[in-house]
Amino acid sequence: MGVVSSKNSLAKEQLSETGAGFHRSWYPVCLAAALEPQAVIGRDFLGTRVVAWRDASGTPVVQTAWCPHLGADLSLGKVVEGRLRCPYHHWSFESGGACAHIPTGDKIPSAARLFSYPTAEAWGIVWAFNGERPDFAPPILPDAEEGAVEFQAFERGERPWDTWVAVSNGVDFQHLRTLHGMPLTTMPEELDVEPGAIGFKVESPHHLQHGRITGTNTFAQHLRLGGMDMFQMFTGAPIAPRRSNGFFVIAVPKGQGKRLPEVRAMVERLNEEDAPVLNTIRFRRGLLTASDRHLARYFKYVEEFPTFLPPL
Ligand code: FES
Ligand SMILES: [Fe+2]
Repeated sequence: MGVVSSKNSLAKEQLSETGAGFHRSWYPVCLAAALEPQAVIGRDFLGTRVVAWRDASGTPVVQTAWCPHLGADLSLGKVVEGRLRCPYHHWSFESGGACAHIPTGDKIPSAARLFSYPTAEAWGIVWAFNGERPDFAPPILPDAEEGAVEFQAFERGERPWDTWVAVSNGVDFQHLRTLHGMPLTTMPEELDVEPGAIGFKVESPHHLQHGRITGTNTFAQHLRLGGMDMFQMFTGAPIAPRRSNGFFVIAVPKGQGKRLPEVRAMVERLNEEDAPVLNTIRFRRGLLTASDRHLARYFKYVEEFPTFLPPL
């Protein structure tokens, strides 16, 4: 049901980040803890709107929020008997998207379906993949398994930037020294670019940094500073060009949960230092010099990234 065609050219111009839709990536929709059984959460997302709820087995469902009958916002609806019921005329939809019930008893039109995004629940976040099928696995934290760490997820709310621009921070090794004042950081020799992800490893006598970009909207890292391990994930979902909804995750090895506030303070500091620049940047792929080679590789990866325009 998704369209990547010229039919939607006006929508493309107005809504997409690349001119042909949004990147085929895993995007955070809401905190998993906020999606309680029976809850229905609506979010502006990728130039349209989605609704998140849990089916009878507790599995998260993310679907287009506009009812195919008259376009009511399904986030005003209710979960009734394991289906999402529209607030307006009570058409009910299955987790797979099919309309299963119309109270009048009229024949259900075959096109009465909601677009259902592939979903995942990981790191305290409900994720949706922008496509009919996922091209790669949901984001990971380098060197960490969910069961082996203590973690917390946070929703930061709306930010005035494109997620793929913010994620370039992850391979902008110069700005760690200049903006964040971390003089001991070094740069990896190579980036490990694979379909849907970029990884790198930096190890020095002073620190360890294993970083990973998943898609174009999630940067995660394992840091070891002063012998202590910590894990951070920065992610976001585009709402429209230059508007996104941000989330972050922090983690420490099991048994070290009392260090989480200190990791959170570091993340808040990094965010606060980046925010004035990212809030106001008019991004261009400008005059890159030799030390920008990893950034240049990242921008090429972004330019070549496949896109998909979800049903509007
Ligand atoms: S608009 Fe949803 S049932 Fe009528
Ligand atoms: Fe930064």
